[in-house]
Formats: sequence, C-alpha cells, structure tokens
Amino acid sequence: MEAKGSEWWSGETVAVVTGANRGIGLEICRQLADKGLIVIMTARKPQEELSSSAKQFLQEAAEMGRKNVIFHTLDIGQEQSVLDFVDWLKLHVGNIDILVNNAGIQTADVDWGFLKQNNIDVRTFLGTPNCGSGTSESHELAKECINNNYYGTKMLTNAILPLLRPSPYKARIVMVSSVAGMLYYLRDEELRKQLSEVEDLTEQKIDGVLNLFLEDLKSEKGMEKWPLKLPAYSTSKAALNAYTRLSASKLKAIACVNSVHPGFVRTDITESTGYLSAPEGAENVVRVALFPVGGPSGHNFLEGEDSEF
Ligand SMILES: NC(=O)c1ccc[n+]([C@@H]2O[C@H](COP(=O)([O-])OP(=O)(O)OC[C@H]3O[C@@H](n4cnc5c(N)ncnc54)[C@H](OP(=O)(O)O)[C@@H]3O)[C@@H](O)[C@H]2O)c1
Repeated sequence: MEAKGSEWWSGETVAVVTGANRGIGLEICRQLADKGLIVIMTARKPQEELSSSAKQFLQEAAEMGRKNVIFHTLDIGQEQSVLDFVDWLKLHVGNIDILVNNAGIQTADVDWGFLKQNNIDVRTFLGTPNCGSGTSESHELAKECINNNYYGTKMLTNAILPLLRPSPYKARIVMVSSVAGMLYYLRDEELRKQLSEVEDLTEQKIDGVLNLFLEDLKSEKGMEKWPLKLPAYSTSKAALNAYTRLSASKLKAIACVNSVHPGFVRTDITESTGYLSAPEGAENVVRVALFPVGGPSGHNFLEGEDSEF
C-alpha cells in the first residue's frame, strides 16, 4: 500500500499495541488494522484465553484473509515476558514504526455508580473532596499500579528502542496516559516542580518521586502532598508523562513521543461509565500515533487538545 497525502504510513508500517485484550487497546488495533498497517496486537493472556471480543476480532481478521494482524502474548509487568516478546519481534518482524503503550491498571476502590447516578464527570471527581470514593488504597496495590503503569511501560519502551525504524517519518511512541496524571493534581509545589522542569528531569528524579509516594503511603504521613483521588494511578500517570517528555528530548532525532488522555471512556477500568465509547477513546489515541510528518513531540493531548502536562 502506497503512502498518500498526509498519510505517511503504508502496508509495511508496523505498530505494536499493548493491553489489547479489551477496551481501548482492542479498538486501537482494529482502527490501525483498518488503515492497513501491520498490527502486532499484544495482551498478557495467551491467545486462547483472550476476551470474547478480542478472539472475535482475531477470528474475523483470519476469516477475511487479513495478514496484517498478528497476536503475541506480552505482559509489560514481567521482565521475561518483555524480553521474550522483543526477541520474537527481532526474529519475526524486524523494525517497528509505532509503539502504543496502552496497557494500564487502576487499583483504588472507586464507586463509579455514584458518579454515574450523580452525573459527575471525571475532572470534578478528581478535584473535589467528599465527591465519591477513590481516596485510598493499600501500599501493595499502589505498588502494583506504579510497577505496571510506569515501570512496565518504561521497561518495554527501553527494550523496543533498538528496533525503532530509522525513517524520515520518525517512529512514534504514544503513552496512553490520563487527565488524572496532570501535574495540577499533585498537591505540592515542590513535587510539581520536580516533574515539570524538563531540562533537569532524569529517570532517577522520577524514581525518587515514586519512592517518596510509596513511603508516604506506607507511613500514612504526608499524603496531603499527593493526588486527592486515585493517588497511585494519578502518580503513576504523572510519572509516565514526565517520562514522555524525557524520552521525547532523548529520542528527538528518531521518534516523536507524546502522551494522550483518551477521554472518559466506557470500559472496564471505569466500570462502563464515561462519555465516550471505546472506539471514540481509541480514535483519540490513533490520531496522535498517526500525526502527519513533522508533528509534535513531547506534548500531552487531552482527547484532541494539545494541553499542558
Ligand atoms: N477508560 C478511561 O476512561 C480512561 C481514561 C484515561 C486513561 N485511560 C487509560 O487507557 C488505557 C486503556 O484503558 P481501558 O479504558 O481500555 O481499560 P481496560 O478496559 O481496563 O483495559 C486495560 C487493558 O490493559 C491490560 N493490561 C493491564 N496491565 C497489563 C500488563 N501488565 N500487560 C499487558 N496488558 C495489561 C488489561 O489486560 P487484561 O485484559 O488481561 O486485564 C486490559 O486489556 C489505560 O492505560 C488507562 O489508564 C483510560
């Protein structure tokens, strides 16, 4: 397939999508495959244990004789799984053009039904005390959330970097982040400063912020510094956004790296609350992945809008 107009991609363009067993990730795969790209659809479960909608997508692709959808197991939180996947990519695929880091979890207990019944949008929920639940979670669950959303995403991204195709179009790395990860929700100026000064940002600095969060949570002291709602999820996505900026600066010669909030989307993570369908949420991510050549890098998109971090 030939690239045409602002469509820089072709039938040889390869996109890896994580967390595609359900929700937004599955729809990202569907939309990229419909545009003719080669899609490496990944999920932490083996193919035979995928959700019925993921199985159906793969079955329909096979029935239509589509050769551009390939499934591989990948758990971004397990080092061996990441290493096995990248070895397989090297052997069977070679270079890749797009990495969509979509896999993510949210571990705080949230009464989404309360938000739905009271017609409360996610930003009001995140910013308002005594508005629904989601204010606390155990140290163990918070650690799992941070390990998965931040360290897992970083581990996969670092492992895949050598496979990014050098090209005039530049490779694309999209971090599926969240409005909850905006610095605004960190309630401490020094913490906001640490993650916002991009010239001084380092991976060690991001680790330091995450370690402090986990220490404060464990000691139950100092939690007033951290996001009011979904503290581990928000902090993990704030770290991911900082990593986006850091990576964009490091990789500026070869890749565009951006974060995107897909919108408040009706998937399992929100117990099917939200104002967008999964395909609509996926569109917001795909748009960023396929920006025309010369597009932004090191930016944060809230749905379609270029936003501050
Ligand atoms: N829905 C929203 O309103 C919303 C808003 C802002 C941001 N987001 C972000 O959008 C992304 C997709 O969320 P969603 O709404 O589609 O939620 P979802 O329906 O809960 O789907 C999350 C997907 O991530 C996968 N996953 C989690 N950890 C993984 C790991 N270690 N390795 C591989 N896959 C893993 C899950 O796998 P299993 O199926 O095996 O559990 C699941 O398929 C997440 O990063 C989320 O934070 C969503």
